[in-house]
Amino acid sequence: MSVKLDLAGRRVLVVGASSGVGRAVAQLAARSGARVALAARRAAQLEETAAALRGEGADALAVPCDVTREADCRSAVERAVGALGGLDVLVYAAGVSPLCLLGEAGQAEWRQVLDVNLIGASLVTAAAVEPLAASRGRAAYIGSYSERQTLPGIGLYSVSKSALAALVAAWRMEHPGVEFTRVVLGNTAGTEFAKAWGAERTAAITKLWIERGLFPAPNMMPLSHAAEAICSVLALSGFVDEIGVMPRPSDAQLET
Ligand SMILES: NC(=O)c1ccc[n+]([C@@H]2O[C@H](COP(=O)([O-])OP(=O)(O)OC[C@H]3O[C@@H](n4cnc5c(N)ncnc54)[C@H](OP(=O)(O)O)[C@@H]3O)[C@@H](O)[C@H]2O)c1
Repeated sequence: MSVKLDLAGRRVLVVGASSGVGRAVAQLAARSGARVALAARRAAQLEETAAALRGEGADALAVPCDVTREADCRSAVERAVGALGGLDVLVYAAGVSPLCLLGEAGQAEWRQVLDVNLIGASLVTAAAVEPLAASRGRAAYIGSYSERQTLPGIGLYSVSKSALAALVAAWRMEHPGVEFTRVVLGNTAGTEFAKAWGAERTAAITKLWIERGLFPAPNMMPLSHAAEAICSVLALSGFVDEIGVMPRPSDAQLET
């Protein structure tokens, strides 16, 4: 690890902690002394990660929830706050990334991506904002470089992440007693980001990218790098509205 983190005693809820970036953040936070609640839909994965962390002597528990259900958003925060005795940090890493051209997207596709990436973020924040205000804590949200540079097929996702940026700014205006941070993340290896795309669909859309000179895509960075950058912000007490963590061509030598 390239940074030394001290999150001793911090009470942290990570939403989207069953895989990828959220799980890596929960693991690093717990190994840096935080007491961590892990939330997402897949209860078995959450419990496996939490149990492994407890085996290392960390304090970790699973709070399964589906952020497309309002009651789940409230109850996950309540269970975390109850078990941890308050909340210092919320990390919202839940996200879905459909590979879908705008002309093909119906209400179901739009609703799914906005429900998870945007509305769930606000519902979880609404449930967490009082305990976060009580601890003068921080809420961090995982945004995407695709807000700045989208691709054909990534439009729904990019729109949801641009809206998430506006949402974070709006929460900041309404609750100056809580630190709100957006993490603009670039391509990160070792996650399930593209798992649902399927080989055929991926090939068809990749063909479009190649035809339009948009491929190869930017490099991938290791999951550990993303987790370290995010956790380093959690360790700060001052104002950090936004960080950008993304690989450049010169980072090609980074191991994934
Ligand atoms: N990987 C990248 O290159 C990259 C780049 C920029 C930004 N990001 C962002 O990073 C975040 C994490 O993505 P990832 O790459 O780590 O992908 P991932 O491995 O697929 O993780 C996504 C997480 O979101 C959770 N989730 C999805 N739907 C949910 C729901 N309805 N309720 C609760 N949790 C839900 C998933 O858990 P369950 O399925 O168990 O519910 C999983 O834990 C996302 O916000 C993504 O947009 C990723």
